[in-house]
Amino acid sequence: MDSIKQAVELARAADAPGQSAIAPEVVRPGSVDPAIRKAQLSPAHLERSRIVAQGSATPQGRYYDMLRTQILQEMDKKSWQFLAITSPTAGCGKTVTACNLAISIARLAERSVLLVDLDLRRPTVANYLGVQGTGGVMSVLEGRASLSSAVMQVNVGPTNFLVLPGTVSSSSSSEWMASQTMGTLLQTIKREFRSRIVIFDLPPMLLGDDVISILPRMDATLLVAGVGATTVADVKECQKHLQRSPVIRVVVNKAQETPDSYYGYY
Ligand SMILES: Nc1ncnc2c1ncn2[C@@H]1O[C@H](COP(=O)(O)OP(=O)(O)O)[C@@H](O)[C@H]1O
Ligand SMILES: [Mg+2]
Repeated sequence: MDSIKQAVELARAADAPGQSAIAPEVVRPGSVDPAIRKAQLSPAHLERSRIVAQGSATPQGRYYDMLRTQILQEMDKKSWQFLAITSPTAGCGKTVTACNLAISIARLAERSVLLVDLDLRRPTVANYLGVQGTGGVMSVLEGRASLSSAVMQVNVGPTNFLVLPGTVSSSSSSEWMASQTMGTLLQTIKREFRSRIVIFDLPPMLLGDDVISILPRMDATLLVAGVGATTVADVKECQKHLQRSPVIRVVVNKAQETPDSYYGYY
């Protein structure tokens, strides 16, 4: 754990004030197009995917609620809307964290969420949630579908949020991330879903330049470090690229010293 703690300190040191492109506004529940595709999520499937934030009855659910509250406090202070979730390498738990945070935030009556799968290398949000993919984000980027037709509403108990599922990129993820088309899509999301917190499940940082390309378009970053997977050197390397997007939190995932640290975070 020492190396992880050191890693967390390093990432904290990287925290720098940032500017938001959006004007301050009161966040209110987002209204949705009545024609939007809807899906009911299966609690058993979610649990198998380690998505546990549907309620605060379990320690894991409570951890996500605490993480959510800390993140929202930081984001509200700066009127931030876009939260990037990344990690140094694959398999650290970005997607599990992104889905849990989306549900935890959506459970708040006055909040609404859009979860976007931008891991064009390995999109798994739809699988984890147990929904059938639409054309997803690539169909929007390639001009084959409108944003409103690619977004779906998912319901879990009384909670609902919007998802823009991912699809594997036919060409290089890096090129898409840096493209003007992606810039336009993000601007459209900002405008169309202005009242929502938008969570982006990104690829790992150190496997290519795709995350580095898109970070300047994000308001803040949550870095997921995986116990046994992330080294101090990895976090140092990420830190170099995180200058323009403040690191809002470092989640230390897969810590299993005690049942309560199962979803430990700092
Ligand atoms: N806190 C955790 N404890 C144990 N396993 C976890 C935890 N978080 C994620 N996992 C598992 O680790 C694997 C990778 O998680 P995932 O969220 O897909 O990582 P990433 O999106 O960073 O590649 C999955 O099999 C997931 O179920
Ligand atoms: Mg993932």
